[in-house]
Amino acid sequence: MSSLSRRSALKLLAASTALPAGQAQAAQAESLELQPVGHWKTTHNRVFLGGEFWANPMEDWRIVDGAAECQTTGGDRNIHLITRQLTDAGKPFAMSVRVGRVESRRIDGGAGFRIGIKSELNEYRSNLFSKGGVKAGIIDGKLVLARRTQPLADGADTSDVVFVLSGSPAGDQVQLTLTAKNATSGEELGTLTAQVPADFVLGNVAVVSNFEPTIKKGQGARYRFSDWRVGGDAVTVDESRAFGPLLWTMYTLSDSRGDEGFVMKLSALTGPLGEDDSKDVELQVEKGGEWKSLGTTQLDTDAWTATFRIPNWDEKHAAAYRVVYQEKQTDGSTVESSWSGKIKANPSGRPLRLGALTCQNDYGFPYEPVVENLLRLDPDMLYFSGDQLYEGHGGYGLIRDPAGPAILNYLRKFYQFGMSFRDALKDAPTVCIPDDHDVFQGNIWGEGGKAMGEGSTSSKGGYREPARMVNVVHKTCAGHHPDYFDPTPCLQDISVYYGDMVYGGVSFAILGDRQWKSGPEHVDSGSSRADHVKDPNYDVSTLDKPGLVLLGERQEKFLEHWGSDWRGHSMKVLLSQTVFAAVATHHGGYDGYLKADLDSGGWPQTARNRAIEILRKSKALHINGDQHLTTLTQYGVKEQRDSNWSFCTPAIAAGYPRWWRPDEVGMAHENRPQHGLANTGEFLDGLGNKAYVYAVGNPVVGKDRNRYRKAHEKGSGFGLVTIDTDSKTYHIESFRFLIDATDGKADNQFPGWPVTLHQDENAGQNRLE
Ligand SMILES: [Fe+2]
Repeated sequence: MSSLSRRSALKLLAASTALPAGQAQAAQAESLELQPVGHWKTTHNRVFLGGEFWANPMEDWRIVDGAAECQTTGGDRNIHLITRQLTDAGKPFAMSVRVGRVESRRIDGGAGFRIGIKSELNEYRSNLFSKGGVKAGIIDGKLVLARRTQPLADGADTSDVVFVLSGSPAGDQVQLTLTAKNATSGEELGTLTAQVPADFVLGNVAVVSNFEPTIKKGQGARYRFSDWRVGGDAVTVDESRAFGPLLWTMYTLSDSRGDEGFVMKLSALTGPLGEDDSKDVELQVEKGGEWKSLGTTQLDTDAWTATFRIPNWDEKHAAAYRVVYQEKQTDGSTVESSWSGKIKANPSGRPLRLGALTCQNDYGFPYEPVVENLLRLDPDMLYFSGDQLYEGHGGYGLIRDPAGPAILNYLRKFYQFGMSFRDALKDAPTVCIPDDHDVFQGNIWGEGGKAMGEGSTSSKGGYREPARMVNVVHKTCAGHHPDYFDPTPCLQDISVYYGDMVYGGVSFAILGDRQWKSGPEHVDSGSSRADHVKDPNYDVSTLDKPGLVLLGERQEKFLEHWGSDWRGHSMKVLLSQTVFAAVATHHGGYDGYLKADLDSGGWPQTARNRAIEILRKSKALHINGDQHLTTLTQYGVKEQRDSNWSFCTPAIAAGYPRWWRPDEVGMAHENRPQHGLANTGEFLDGLGNKAYVYAVGNPVVGKDRNRYRKAHEKGSGFGLVTIDTDSKTYHIESFRFLIDATDGKADNQFPGWPVTLHQDENAGQNRLE
């Protein structure tokens, strides 16, 4: 307890018999032991507020001289306390915070607490982006509590205030009391009480700068917060929810097939730290019951990743690891934090199970049903094929320029990915590649790293974002991948990340299948959108101009090399963003017919055929995502079914919907599979490519108000591929969203799955009928 609150608690307790109900209750609440949360007072100046907090939005907050200070005069900037929730309205609680006004423009949007912030799930992460809740603070000279307001005395000094908010059960209501005092004089500015229905207080607690979300930047005030304390039995404390300073880890394990044996690479991510913070992260492994240091690595101060590379890793045994960060405080003390997990043993003598995931639209955040399935299944390896975020993630807009703020804007959206999946990521090698939305584009036609000119970020070639921001995206996603095949950057010094990983007797090629791809402005789509062919009679052969690029020369060369290099493995998988066919007939809405989408890997057709010709020799299964529509398709180049299979996995949370309904639009098919499912068989896709569609998981229109049921309706889920190097088979499962993947129910999977393919089928030696 601070000296101020202790003094007032004693004073109020002594006088409580003579006080009216509200103040007596305040006295009772102040006698609760309030625990300080976080340690802003001794934190160095920086962006990251500490692991106990989630700042909305991160880029608008800084630690400044011992307090969390809002950097904008915009509305509804807030900090949630993620380690504590109000969970039992039948018990008392109290919290206090000191609030200083730093600046005030035309409107004083006020500051104070907001409690009872909850989504339809009332899960602490889903609550972080909810509106609503009960206000308690001062707005423009008035004390505000729930719907009640009370003017303060004329001339009351509200520039530096300590708020004490307390609550205690009153039948099926909660009696709330808010007291405001001048922080320097201790003089009471006012007290206000209110009763609210008990469930109104349940949920997250936050402090807020400018309560009203409609206040624009430049209009409101801004505030700084310090000495936040919380207590009482109504509050559940869960320190394991803390997110940072070590946020999460991602690692890979790969057979170099050279002097270095297996190489383990691991990135630890921290929140954006300050100039005076330590940049050292240490990696330790458990040996004989003790932690042994494997050294210290410096954080990259753009990406806030520390990447370790450990050659000659003992791949035969699983190993417990932890990363450790010593957070130096302004008072000379140090706070140690760590994040731990397990480096799996290289799968040997048994099949390798790969969890394959894509596209996380944040209406479904934090995607618990998918995460829980991953934890139950415990795959040997994870693969995220892109769209770890969308531009609208977490609200508060997009910052495109300059690079510094754009990076912070990106990072906090990306952090939602880690916050959701970190318990799975810590224990399994993970390949994670960025796609278009990760670099804030609706589509990406990278053209070898070219800077995008003016125009739409969906249908212009090149990168819209500054190269420095793009490189942060690459580093945060793929910095822990095995060494790249040829790390020479492309145009604008944008990094590349193609290469391979050899694990469990399988070689995984990793491509950026849009990094060199040509933009659609090189051709005429015949419609208002350069990337969408809408006319069903359009001659799509005119889109196949000579010289147009899909994978690009460098990646084609790599793929050639990889296809003929069989050292240390006997099966192959290609991991890239999307399917090399246009397997969707409807986009955006149920009736949104589209003949062809140039953003699919089916365009440019000649380059697509060349890529598959190269790929066929490798007999690789192609695993991809991006479409928000799970499909299992066999590519054809000269003949139907002469080439590799593609498994496009369901989206983790599908946003923009797509369907493959060729039967309905009269597309001809031959040789429908024996299962007889609609919309399957040998087709010429909308771009004229040969594609044998064996299975498709068409969604229904998602309407449910519950995010998880909605994600389920929209065809979300994840893939699991079991690669058996003895029988040379891939067992492919496409799971729905709201299921338990271990209970064996037939309708857990989309129609047509599971499917087992033999390696040779990827070279057109077909068995499946
Ligand atoms: Fe997506």
